[in-house]
Amino acid sequence: MGMRILGWGTALPDKVVTNEDLERTLDTSDEWIVDRSGIRERRIGESTAALAAAAGRKALERAGVEASSIDLLILATTTPDQTVPATSAAVHRALGLAGGGFDLNAACSGFVYGLVAAHGLLATGTRRVLLVGAETLSRITDWSDRNTAVLFGDGGGALVLEHVPGEGQLLAFDLGLDGEAREILMADVGGTIQMDGREVFKRAVRVVVESAKRTLDRAKVRADEIKLLVPHQANIRIIQAACDRLGIDRERAAIVLDRTGNTSSASIPLAFADAIDSGRLEDGDLVLMTGFGAGMTWGSALLRWQDPGTGTLPGREDGSHDD
Ligand code: ACO
Repeated sequence: MGMRILGWGTALPDKVVTNEDLERTLDTSDEWIVDRSGIRERRIGESTAALAAAAGRKALERAGVEASSIDLLILATTTPDQTVPATSAAVHRALGLAGGGFDLNAACSGFVYGLVAAHGLLATGTRRVLLVGAETLSRITDWSDRNTAVLFGDGGGALVLEHVPGEGQLLAFDLGLDGEAREILMADVGGTIQMDGREVFKRAVRVVVESAKRTLDRAKVRADEIKLLVPHQANIRIIQAACDRLGIDRERAAIVLDRTGNTSSASIPLAFADAIDSGRLEDGDLVLMTGFGAGMTWGSALLRWQDPGTGTLPGREDGSHDD
């Protein structure tokens, strides 16, 4: 058994905060932020549950399936609205979902972790999963700290996933965690993000490259066969360094961080949906998602793209789906 993608959706708060806005309150400049990170603006506002529900609703609409047909909600977030209950409870209620639901916290690798978890559950009998990555990092950002305040934003992205007989669209994956590095990027309960930016940068490039290579090796795929790289959107220089070391053309990376900043577990689905909606993918194209985050966690997933609205979907000769 495998899985396939039926629909996708995203949500961003209305409020735009530009680098020029931050120049008014911080000792920083648009030039420094763009040069060192690639970020030009970010969106701020709403709750994690509201962004997750908005992205999930769009993904359900695009998939053309009823909320009541979802067996499981997985919400990847490192910024839950409350400690108890899980934020997935509010999203489940808002969307009128059926089945179970839980939150998953693997920081910025959360969406890839969620994809792999969903794949495992779909392969063992779950029929349909709504996978969401949503964050309100603005709530745990110290807006007086120029080292971090310029980097983060809020947002959400979602996929509807369905089981299929046969291999499906997830071809290989790699997940990892180095708990020894947990001090370099952290926020205490009720506190704000503290980060050793240089150390995170250095380790991020290394773990992303190694994880991506392991994933490609497992699927016996060469880097030059990747049509679209969907990296965690933390810093354009990390993405470019990873592309260069992997031998993937920089033009093949999906980029939204200039408009969103780092939205942690929302960043990969935001970049993926943007690439799909921009017409960058054709049936059969190979897509490599790769992320890293606090922990330090990392995760990569190799997918074969198939538009759910066209052609023959993996595992279904007539392209049909259950409904
Ligand atoms: N504006 C102007 N100057 C600044 C700013 C700012 N916003 N922030 C830092 N500086 C200064 C520093 O104080 C330092 O000054 P000094 O040399 O006098 O001490 C100087 O700029 C250079 O600082 P560096 O840290 O060397 O700058 P660097 O080129 O490494 O860029 C950055 C900093 C953007 C934070 C980079 O290190 C980075 O992106 N690191 C990775 C961060 C990351 O990916 N975090 C998210 C992980 S995912 C998750 O789980 C949330």
